[in-house]
Amino acid sequence: MDRTAVVTGASSGIGAGVARELARRSWRVAVVGRNPERTNDVARAIGAIPFVCDFDRLGDVRALAKELNSRFDRIDAVVNNAGGIVATAERSEDHHELTLQRNLLGSVVLTEALVPKLLHTRGRVIHTSSMVSKLGRIDLDDLDFAKRRYGAGWWPYASAKLGVILYARSLAMRTGLESYPVHPGYVQSGFGSESRSGKIVLALSRWMQISVEAGAAPLVHLVDTPELGVENGTYFDGLTPDGPTHPSAADRTFITAYWQKLAELVDVPVEHHHAT
Ligand SMILES: NC(=O)c1ccc[n+]([C@@H]2O[C@H](COP(=O)([O-])OP(=O)(O)OC[C@H]3O[C@@H](n4cnc5c(N)ncnc54)[C@H](OP(=O)(O)O)[C@@H]3O)[C@@H](O)[C@H]2O)c1
Repeated sequence: MDRTAVVTGASSGIGAGVARELARRSWRVAVVGRNPERTNDVARAIGAIPFVCDFDRLGDVRALAKELNSRFDRIDAVVNNAGGIVATAERSEDHHELTLQRNLLGSVVLTEALVPKLLHTRGRVIHTSSMVSKLGRIDLDDLDFAKRRYGAGWWPYASAKLGVILYARSLAMRTGLESYPVHPGYVQSGFGSESRSGKIVLALSRWMQISVEAGAAPLVHLVDTPELGVENGTYFDGLTPDGPTHPSAADRTFITAYWQKLAELVDVPVEHHHAT
């Protein structure tokens, strides 16, 4: 029976690398991207199935989840990888700060809708975070960054990537599904191309970047290694478990409080049945 992986942000960069390698390892892959042309090109090249979805619209994400649920009899892995930095303070049509929506809220809506299928296969969920999560600051009364400095998008980005770790851990705690957040490394991809400050940082530090294949490798490892031998919810820095991040990522009470706020923001149930 074909193992099936849903990979978001798979139309370029790290996600495309993950989709390519999983397809090579005989996984059936749902390539989820925003740009239709890029999404179709990647899917065609690796013999995968394309799905176009803009995470800036939660209605699109709900429709995607519905389509995936009806199209696939089983889902064994979800790789929540879509994201990036947003240059200017903007709100989505769903009224959320765009960085948070693009990097986390879309993944929350998608993953929560796929939980029943994942419980059935005892599937895994991998979440692309970042080492900048260390600099994140989460204010439970200001998840949408209305009251704080936007800082060319880096503060909301760091905070959203910290949120990714908290969400990954809350998913593990609530459902028992294996759920791992990961920093892929500093990867040469399309990252930062929508932001002026991102382009400058990239131009100055390109020599430090690793290839897309090297950035995809930790995610593929987390999807495709039968026994990882670590505590559920462990944050990986590349292939290394227990990467350095913000102390709040270890605070279970805070994780639960954060999850309750997230669930309220995107209107999903707070509780799920736990894997037995
Ligand atoms: N590159 C790094 O050094 C680095 C380090 C740490 C973490 N990350 C994270 O790694 C992930 C992948 O980024 P990357 O480096 O591979 O950059 P990338 O080449 O720019 O890829 C980003 C992917 O996310 C998709 N995406 C962006 N906004 C979207 C939206 N609104 N709706 C749906 N899809 C959207 C893009 O789709 P389209 O191309 O179709 O628009 C693309 O497939 C991101 O979450 C990024 O934050 C990157």
